[in-house]
Amino acid sequence: MSHLAPLSPDLQQRIEALARQAAPAPMLSQKQIAQLKEEIRALLQEKNAVLVAHYYVDDQLQALAEETGGIVADSLEMANFGAKSDADMLVVCGVRFMGETAKLLSPEKKVLMPTLEATCSLDLSCPPDDFARFIAQHPDHTVVVYANTSAAVKALAHWTVTSGNALQIVRHLSERGERIIWAPDKHLGRWIERETGAAMLLWQGHCVVHDEFMAYELEKLKQRYPQAKVLVHPESPENVVAMADVVGSTRVLIQAVQELPDTQFIVATDFGIFYKMQQLAPQKQLIVAPTGSRERQCSSCAHCPWMAMNSLVNLKRVLETEDQEIHIDPALRERAVQPIERMLAFSRRVGLVK
Ligand code: 13P
Ligand code: SF4
Repeated sequence: MSHLAPLSPDLQQRIEALARQAAPAPMLSQKQIAQLKEEIRALLQEKNAVLVAHYYVDDQLQALAEETGGIVADSLEMANFGAKSDADMLVVCGVRFMGETAKLLSPEKKVLMPTLEATCSLDLSCPPDDFARFIAQHPDHTVVVYANTSAAVKALAHWTVTSGNALQIVRHLSERGERIIWAPDKHLGRWIERETGAAMLLWQGHCVVHDEFMAYELEKLKQRYPQAKVLVHPESPENVVAMADVVGSTRVLIQAVQELPDTQFIVATDFGIFYKMQQLAPQKQLIVAPTGSRERQCSSCAHCPWMAMNSLVNLKRVLETEDQEIHIDPALRERAVQPIERMLAFSRRVGLVK
């Protein structure tokens, strides 16, 4: 097992500062919500646009995406849906890398986001120039990057993966005898390394939300809810993953709530996912896994500060102004789309997406 040096303190501080600066969505009355939804519906129709939303965004955005023929999904299915959609315009409610992936796969469509400032700590933790230097030191390795990266980093990779297909893809590469450079999430990388036995060099990024889940506090919560099953997203620390009954992507965790016979679940991922879990299994009790303790306050507190920037207000505004548009240089696109297309072809072949 081979891990790189930790991120520089400067980069780490910059990421934390950006997370603190992310402005949350405004509070709205029921009347304002109803009016905004009505106006957005009309704009979507007028522009032949669809909403492509992630499970972590606000409940109202998830509901609206479903009601208007869009999708609420994990990052893998979002990419797949956007590529297949015949809309003229995709409005991606999520974070920047999701908008970029949509544009890379559909250059002919206009891709908008409620705000282009919604980034991701994993994306920020992997500056393309540093990563290119690292790859150059290991030219005999296959470069696998998580979808949570910029188009410039994807352009350096052989494969893109998401948490929904990373295990299968890395296992496939390892069985072919390939050694792997993995970036940027160290926890997800370590979990995949252990599950597959692949030889991996791990970049040392982390998600500011999942990194805060705490094993010691989780142990105490389990004692209060001894019947509860523990569901963990693999971006969480190793000692939290070790306590899980189910480890998996957002889609896998939702399926577990729906399909397992148990009635209580402790969930270690962004609590935005509760909207879909509750919709599919209304009788089940969902408990947020602990992110703070007596010694340490949480910062993100189980909700991604950048996902939280998406709101009905900025969604309506962008449909009117079209000013938060994703643009990708065509030469960069040519390189960055290849690892995503490889990932989608693999995922379709093994039945992970249709
Ligand atoms: P999924 O790929 O499971 O949707 O997760 C994306 C993400 O950003 C998790 O924090
Ligand atoms: Fe990135 Fe973490 Fe937010 Fe997901 S939850 S978008 S990995 S910062």
